[in-house]
Amino acid sequence: MIFTKTARLLTTAAFACAAMPALAQEVEVLHWWTSGSEAAALNILKEDLARQGISWQDMPVAGGAGEAATTTLKARVSAGNPPVAAQVLGMGVTEWATEGSLGDISVIATEEGWDAVVPEAVKRFATDDGKWVAVPVNIHRPNWLWINREIFEEHDLTPPTTWEEFNTVAQTLKDAGVTPLAHGGQPWQDATIFDDVVLGLGGPEFYRAAIHELDPEALGSDTMKAVFDEMRVIRGFVDDNFSGRDWNLATAMVVNGDAAMQLMGDWAKGELLEAGVTPGEQVLCVPAPGTEGSYLFITDFFAFFDVSEENQSGQQAMASALMSPKFQEEFNLIKGSIPARADVPSANFDSCGQQAITDIAEANAKGTLIGSLAHGHAQTPAVQLAIFDLVTEHFNSDMSSEDAVEELLHAVEAAQL
Ligand code: BGC
Repeated sequence: MIFTKTARLLTTAAFACAAMPALAQEVEVLHWWTSGSEAAALNILKEDLARQGISWQDMPVAGGAGEAATTTLKARVSAGNPPVAAQVLGMGVTEWATEGSLGDISVIATEEGWDAVVPEAVKRFATDDGKWVAVPVNIHRPNWLWINREIFEEHDLTPPTTWEEFNTVAQTLKDAGVTPLAHGGQPWQDATIFDDVVLGLGGPEFYRAAIHELDPEALGSDTMKAVFDEMRVIRGFVDDNFSGRDWNLATAMVVNGDAAMQLMGDWAKGELLEAGVTPGEQVLCVPAPGTEGSYLFITDFFAFFDVSEENQSGQQAMASALMSPKFQEEFNLIKGSIPARADVPSANFDSCGQQAITDIAEANAKGTLIGSLAHGHAQTPAVQLAIFDLVTEHFNSDMSSEDAVEELLHAVEAAQL
């Protein structure tokens, strides 16, 4: 099947070269990279493809973590009109592949030796039944805490390493009239904090049991109650206007000194760079409280849909461009993430990037490299959304931790039916 498709492709291409002027190629790409740094990083790809004579049809769907983009993509695929490629997070790739909606880019993967350079943890999402169906462009770490250094120095504070320390530091800031935490009240952002608290209070084994294995004992445990207690305390450290705020505006609050900290993945670092701020200097990066030694990870993939034959060569060219070491370096230097390829030189990354590269290697060796729930690398979309709903409802109400744990158990059970 693979060979037949390729043979057909090659024949078409050879015929086009010999007998006809080259066909203008076009790739329609659905994505949610609309913040300043995200758009700048994506531009590297657009320019790469333009140099190859491939035109870019942009299909941006704004909304952090792809909440809205995922809905649009579903509508396009069910209408029988998928884009050539779409940005999709790990479990999303698995779901599309299981539904049989993705094409097969194994030929180019084999030709270019992707197997040898993509870490196992990432490859597992990019392949289905031995076939490559998506291209990984980066690895992001959601469990970071970003700190405005000047504010911390002014108040004589040191970066918190546990949730208890976080609470003390945040209370000191609040008492001094400073907003401790920049946050945007959107379900995926609430869930990003939840990820950090589950991992920080429970540790990697607990995170795995509760979030990956959905073990009822872990989900219903006192540790999980303590997680909701902490979420309630954190709610007291955000400003009054947090509801609905986009993540990049929350990052800007830390940059401008309107808030002291943000719990966010390293796409926030992209915004720091875009604002001319040096990560690790004016804004510090430390692992989210209690999570040192563990690395929650997510990868942005471009999934390649099963499209008509005339679109397939553009697809292959795009896949190849995305996997080139040069692209992965240039793109990730802007995006805030680290390359998905293990063989890209690390010398040009800033100090937070260097820390990410060291920490991921350590976590990988220790078995504490763990897929993030908030960013689609732990659960099916159904279970993930059920947990998002509960976490957000708890964050925005006076629901007790006991009730939250009970509801969590029910929600997870129902979502698995
Ligand atoms: C994606 C990032 C993106 C962030 C904010 C994450 O889920 O992996 O690439 O920058 O959401 O939209």
